[in-house]
Amino acid sequence: MGGGNNVLVAVRCRPMSEREKEKGASPCVESEDDKMTVTDKASGEQRQFSFDYCYMSSGIASDLPDEQAKIYQVLGTEVLNQAYQGYNVTVMAYGQTGSGKSLTMVGRPSAAGQDCRGLIPRISEGIFNPEVPAGEGMVLAKVELQMLEIYNEQVRDLLAGPGGSSVVKVREDPASGPYVEGLTKHTVLVYEDVCEKLEVGLQARTIAGTKMNAGSSRAHTICQLHITRTNLTSTSRARAIDTSSLINLVDLAGSERVAEAGTADNVVRIKESVNINKSLTALGQCIRALSEGRADSKHVPYRDSQLTWLLKNSLGGNAKTIMVAAVAPGSSEYAETLSTLRYADRMRKVQTAAVVNRRSVATIPVIIEDPAPQPVIEEGDEEASSQATKTPPSAEFRPRGKNSPSAKGGARGRVGFRNTKAYQRPAEMPSRLQVARKLQSMGSWSKDDLFCTLKKPLSYYNF
Ligand SMILES: Nc1ncnc2c1ncn2[C@@H]1O[C@H](COP(=O)(O)OP(=O)(O)OP(=O)(O)O)[C@@H](O)[C@H]1O
Ligand SMILES: [Mg+2]
Repeated sequence: MGGGNNVLVAVRCRPMSEREKEKGASPCVESEDDKMTVTDKASGEQRQFSFDYCYMSSGIASDLPDEQAKIYQVLGTEVLNQAYQGYNVTVMAYGQTGSGKSLTMVGRPSAAGQDCRGLIPRISEGIFNPEVPAGEGMVLAKVELQMLEIYNEQVRDLLAGPGGSSVVKVREDPASGPYVEGLTKHTVLVYEDVCEKLEVGLQARTIAGTKMNAGSSRAHTICQLHITRTNLTSTSRARAIDTSSLINLVDLAGSERVAEAGTADNVVRIKESVNINKSLTALGQCIRALSEGRADSKHVPYRDSQLTWLLKNSLGGNAKTIMVAAVAPGSSEYAETLSTLRYADRMRKVQTAAVVNRRSVATIPVIIEDPAPQPVIEEGDEEASSQATKTPPSAEFRPRGKNSPSAKGGARGRVGFRNTKAYQRPAEMPSRLQVARKLQSMGSWSKDDLFCTLKKPLSYYNF
């Protein structure tokens, strides 16, 4: 995604579904390297498209964890790399109903040792396990999470909580573009905090069974992660470089035909279908306008739907964007698959105008030249101090907030998106109080709000 190429398109083809098999469908999608070919079984006509990445499912159920991991390794790490540099990044999954968008974005909760999590939980986890940058000093980061859905053209806060107002409005900031007014923002300190919020937000989504998909998304879901990073060097009177980045993770609802989805006699489902298809058409029209070079926002119909209005930056503004187009392999789905591939192909011609979001550079107090404070063991940190002697120094440090699950005694054990690997508290972790003392004079940072990555082992910093 470097070198001025701000839009990346991947296509993922799922295995044949039981429904397609019952309809007597045969496979009509093939892929080699970055090419995907779809064949019209009736006429024999073939159409071939090139994308940045193509993923074909092996069709073997036990391969799914590896397939999910591979998609994260390629696309998820790209998202994190760009976000760390200070770019806004959007990933959106597009495709017909039942094609695998939610599996790609959300995945399945880890169960029986099988990690089938999708991009949203894996990227969230990756934020808290960054590669340690070269050099010395430390990186402080604040991470905030928001979740919303667009249901029947109404924007709803999925994390408003009981008593909170879930209906919110899209407004436009003249400088930064459209945003959602009144959407609750939640500071997350560790991956477990994200899991706790994701479980609540995903539970609040509007999902219903149709003939095409037993767990069909009836709304577009957007998970937003705001990251602010301050890179502190260790030289005297060091200067801090602040970058901020918004990661938008979008699980779109799928296009569907009412007759195929079996929703013709259900007024609620029909209304949902109409709104889903309308907003996806609006998205298609924005992509068409942008792919034809009409960057002037007057000529791009962003205002035609809440979805396109909210994604204005991701489509034609300050963002790097990845589209994952999900398709079905069966010949019975040929028309929809061809249409999705054309849509994705058009997306490749879109260019956004991504810039690094760098905040003002401030002078901050030195860190490593402070005299070493007396060791202070905070209540609850005894485990850390005893662990410190048993394990080698770690370059990673995450203070626990008073609201984090681990600090509260844990929401562990609930079904969800926690990794199958147990969370390992980094060794030689200083107490939050020790770090807070060091950070008190660093401007707007509050000691409960951040986690930090040290570029050298902790012993180097004289804590
Ligand atoms: N690559 C895959 N491997 C195995 N199963 C898959 C794969 N992709 C999708 N599925 C299964 O297909 C079904 C539909 O997938 P999913 O719910 O992700 O579709 P969707 O595109 O989100 O549909 P909708 O638009 O209706 O929300 C699910 O049971 C899912 O587990
Ligand atoms: Mg879905």
